[in-house]
Amino acid sequence: MIIIKSQKQIEGIRESSKLAAQTLEYVSKFIKPGVNTEELNSVVHKYIVDHGAIPAPLNYNKFPKSICTSINNVVCHGIPSIHDILKEGDIINIDITTILNGCFGDTSATYPVGKISSEANQLIDKTQQSMMLAINSLKPGLKLNNCVGKNIENYLRPFGFVPVRDLGGHGVGVKFHEDPFVYHFATKQGDVTLKPGMTFTVEPMINASQNWHVTFDKSDGWTVRTQDGSLSAQFEHTVLITNTGYEILTQL
Ligand code: MF3
Ligand code: CO
Ligand code: CO
Repeated sequence: MIIIKSQKQIEGIRESSKLAAQTLEYVSKFIKPGVNTEELNSVVHKYIVDHGAIPAPLNYNKFPKSICTSINNVVCHGIPSIHDILKEGDIINIDITTILNGCFGDTSATYPVGKISSEANQLIDKTQQSMMLAINSLKPGLKLNNCVGKNIENYLRPFGFVPVRDLGGHGVGVKFHEDPFVYHFATKQGDVTLKPGMTFTVEPMINASQNWHVTFDKSDGWTVRTQDGSLSAQFEHTVLITNTGYEILTQL
């Protein structure tokens, strides 16, 4: 069931989303070679709590940390650790979800660590472009997948990049993960017509490969990796469908 948010809920989700965006910008300044991902986790945890909010990932379905940190071939849900030390040439996605006054905001971005390869740079750039292309097409009355999945897949094909299929975006706001499931590839599944008051994420995970398959780590229960070891990048915004189009809630 897709929740159409009230004006009051929208205001709360807007505030939480703004904090998530500010947190992401804040932590991005700490990314450099030699830093471990547990340091990034603790920086974010303190920032969110100091702003009167709660980091949504912590203890969510037993997730042990306050953010996700996903390096290189890790697609998403990487767990921060003192053993994961950033090195020149890596790419890292940091995913922030805040709960402020009971409302959720969810955003992520992929960053270079020092100087990176031109392929990695292109993957980051095209992944962000594909998300923005999808978001820019959102409008009430249109089909969700025509705006998001179809645009993303078609945009990336000429570059030899593919969207991951096993994970997607989601309704967000009142809960962490609500309906609808947001597919990042062209599909007839989950046929949804956009309506004002919907809030959901667009968060394509894109592999620098023709292979969209991923593996799920059985020992930590969370880490998702590309099957073929290729790089993967991701960007995420929380968006609101308005009467005339959309509003990006996690944009500063
Ligand atoms: N923030 C992620 C998303 O975009 C979800 C992370 S779930 C966690 O949906 F438990 F790993 F934090
Ligand atoms: Co999300
Ligand atoms: Co997220």
